[in-house]
Amino acid sequence: MAYQTILFEVRDSVAFVTINRPDKLNALNDQVVEDLRDATERIATDASIRGVLITGAGSKAFIAGADIGDLAKQGPFDGKARALRGQAVLRRLETCGKPVVAAINGFALGGGCELALACHIRVASENAKFGQPEVKLGIIPGYAGTQRLPRLVGKGVALQLILGGEMIDAQEAYRIGLVNKIVSQEQLLSEAEKLLRGILAQGPVAVSLALEAVERGLDTTLDEGSNLEANLFGLLASSRDMKEGLTAFLEKRPPKFEGR
Ligand code: COA
Repeated sequence: MAYQTILFEVRDSVAFVTINRPDKLNALNDQVVEDLRDATERIATDASIRGVLITGAGSKAFIAGADIGDLAKQGPFDGKARALRGQAVLRRLETCGKPVVAAINGFALGGGCELALACHIRVASENAKFGQPEVKLGIIPGYAGTQRLPRLVGKGVALQLILGGEMIDAQEAYRIGLVNKIVSQEQLLSEAEKLLRGILAQGPVAVSLALEAVERGLDTTLDEGSNLEANLFGLLASSRDMKEGLTAFLEKRPPKFEGR
């Protein structure tokens, strides 16, 4: 599929996804969400893609939120449908089985912050700004920000951001655990890619199952999550990668993983 609002390129097993509406600060209109829906499906199902890096076009914004023009036209039923569509796309990304890194290059507001929350790791440039400003517009987050933000930073801090609607800078986002790392604007993409490729150098089956254990486990009780972990831990014993990883350690050589 040819995309209208995103750039999609696969290089050395990594899908580089760029939200590409810089004149509108990469706001998520319905077409962006549709393009992302197709792209996430491709990411999840194309075995040649092993990891994902998501960023925004231009130097000012990652994504400045859902497109306020679209929201202004919605009634209750299409409003709910829009939220469900966006939530499904973000969930597909989060559970695609491959590591997803967000390179946050400016404003990450509303739906932009929510998309970043659905990524597994967030790297921010020094000029990044974060916020859930929906209440200032008389709405609430609709792409599961009310659910993922408290899971990531805790209920109190999440409520402060969601109820106050104020923006925070990259340092504060780092302090509360919203981002994993801050780098200069110039180094953002290279550092984010380096981090992602570091993950891709590990045992691919192990990386995928570790993601599954965390993503699925967080939604269950401690006992159920631990049981899921034990099952996946056991499943890995049938992989050639486990045999290779352990043997390579014992033979004092680097492992050669096959992803099987
Ligand atoms: N939806 C639609 N358009 C948006 C947008 C959004 N979420 N955010 C920015 N834009 C558009 C602006 O309307 C403007 O378009 P125009 O040039 O056709 O008028 C363009 O992007 C540039 O934005 P502008 O507001 O001029 O830039 P700024 O540097 O003065 O301010 C922000 C930057 C991010 C503070 C400001 O754009 C803003 O508050 N955006 C909305 C953020 C928000 O509430 N997001 C949550 C939505 S649910």
